[in-house]
Amino acid sequence: MNDTRKEFLDILAQVRTHLEYQQALGVTGIGIASSAPAAPKETVAPTSRPVPAVEPKPVPPPNRPAPPVEPKESPAAVVAPADLESIQQEIGDCKRCKLHAGRNTIVFGEGNPQATVVFVGEGPGFEEDQQGRPFVGAAGQLLTDIIEKGMKIRRAEVYICNIVKCRPPGNRNPEPDEVEACIGFVKQQIACIKPAVIVTLGNVPTQNLLGTKQGITKMRGTWQEYNGIPVMPTFHPSYLLRSPGEKGKVWEDIKKVMGRIGLSIQPKESAARSQESGEKQ
Ligand code: URA
Repeated sequence: MNDTRKEFLDILAQVRTHLEYQQALGVTGIGIASSAPAAPKETVAPTSRPVPAVEPKPVPPPNRPAPPVEPKESPAAVVAPADLESIQQEIGDCKRCKLHAGRNTIVFGEGNPQATVVFVGEGPGFEEDQQGRPFVGAAGQLLTDIIEKGMKIRRAEVYICNIVKCRPPGNRNPEPDEVEACIGFVKQQIACIKPAVIVTLGNVPTQNLLGTKQGITKMRGTWQEYNGIPVMPTFHPSYLLRSPGEKGKVWEDIKKVMGRIGLSIQPKESAARSQESGEKQ
């Protein structure tokens, strides 16, 4: 064997050893290093699928804690002002929504600033707009009767207000933009008074305060909650004027409220009897 051949066989043996070593490491192929310019990549025909605009999010490593979830704005975020007068001052000569154009007066609300029960209606009607007081028309008289004859407390002991403070034209329901402009104020009034119970009268206050689309017929008589305060939805007195046969249902709802705040409920007969004897004296 001449020297050149031996050298060649040596090199071959070294290459074999090196390849076996690479194989043991898991290498399955060897690329060819070249200083020549790379061949153009095969062009892929464009498909109709759009290129995603956003890079896919990297998958987090398995044990990495999930990023904190932004808490949703809770209704508790309503800050209670020092007093009701400050809320009224903040409302000022309000022009926040289109209802201002047709109003005579802003109907802020009235009653006991420390009331145990707050009644919330939808918005002022004609009489309320004239007088600047809530629930003073025919529906208001019925509400007053519910409070004074039914609950046997003075109207001045409770607080009465509305979702919107200006009269919607023709007594229509307030529109979403009007509610949005105004509802913060009734929320502030509630936050300030901190009643033990809220009574919502009809669909508008029930749906907007509770953030539900459920109708009053389903909701009435069932305890709900707004910011930790029990809410009793019931029919609006205007509805009772049109459908007096429904008064019994409202009385059932009001009795639940009375029970909750510890007012004694006299059975109808004995109430009538005590009234009679009172009248004779
Ligand atoms: N109806 C309401 O909802 N509110 C009032 O103040 C009067 C009638």
